[in-house]
Amino acid sequence: LTKALHDGCDGKLPVTVKCRIGTDLDQPFTKKGYAEIDPDQEYSKLCRFIETVASNGVVTDFSVHARIAVLQKSFSPADNRKIPPLKYELVHRLVNDYPELTFSLNGGIDSLSMAQQQFDDCPNLKGVMIGRGWAADPWSFAMADNLLYRDFSYSPKNRLEVLKQFGEHADAEEMAGDPTKIRRFIVKAVNPLFAGEHNAKRYRIALDEIAGRPKKLQAEGKSLESEPPISELILGAALEHLSEEVLLRSPEESYERTIIEEEERTGGRSLSVSEWQERRKTEEKASAYAQSLEAPH
Ligand SMILES: Cc1cc2nc3c(=O)[nH]c(=O)nc-3n(C[C@H](O)[C@H](O)[C@H](O)COP(=O)(O)O)c2cc1C
Repeated sequence: LTKALHDGCDGKLPVTVKCRIGTDLDQPFTKKGYAEIDPDQEYSKLCRFIETVASNGVVTDFSVHARIAVLQKSFSPADNRKIPPLKYELVHRLVNDYPELTFSLNGGIDSLSMAQQQFDDCPNLKGVMIGRGWAADPWSFAMADNLLYRDFSYSPKNRLEVLKQFGEHADAEEMAGDPTKIRRFIVKAVNPLFAGEHNAKRYRIALDEIAGRPKKLQAEGKSLESEPPISELILGAALEHLSEEVLLRSPEESYERTIIEEEERTGGRSLSVSEWQERRKTEEKASAYAQSLEAPH
């Protein structure tokens, strides 16, 4: 399959694999039975899979969801994303045992500090893939490039700016497509932007109304012509229901609030933006120094 993909695009696109750490094919999953499985045996099966996939040289990059896939029919996809326990250590072992391959870790990571923890625990990890955590609260990842990769090339000022830029995109999409068919999908993208903020629910209800409007007008035999563009409607919903403070809050400030909340919840302590940046600077200096020692004189 990977060879066919490679050949099918004349080797011009990278072929990568997303997989899990195993399946329950040999031993149908029960919580108790799975807890008793020998971790080394489980890991060696995973290694065999990775080596088989990597053997023809096409795939060198893997994203690994750190759970087994339970193949029983009684398990829904949602169960399969929740019930099998996460085993991050198996992905870390792959990273260390196969330095010629690259691995990103996936599953259950729902904050920047959890992602950072993975890089701390396993420095050669290529990346962390985040699904539901990001989908539920995308703004809490606004500092990701900045904090994790020190990439400042794009950094939104605040959510009002995000909505304005998104509005341009949304208007262009509606000009090119049929709003009765596509508006729900467009609106869905900005639905969780204010997750956890006061009045976020009212904003979502307003978006829902905006999303359903083209179909409603169509059913009433009315035209969309006299309607304001979708950008104006979305912005209007945000301005009506969210405070100026929320709309204009910077990613840095939002992040600082998140870590205070995390601290209160867990009693633990995450790094503040300035501490994080300070630590990165120290790490970079140390790595530059190490490289200068290695360089031929
Ligand atoms: C609605 C939804 C759809 C998904 N569709 C796919 C898919 O098509 N292919 C895939 O490999 N994983 C899919 N996943 C799984 C995610 O990529 C990810 O592996 C999983 O959600 C665990 O990561 P998370 O805990 O960060 O969400 C989907 C997840 C969700 C919630």
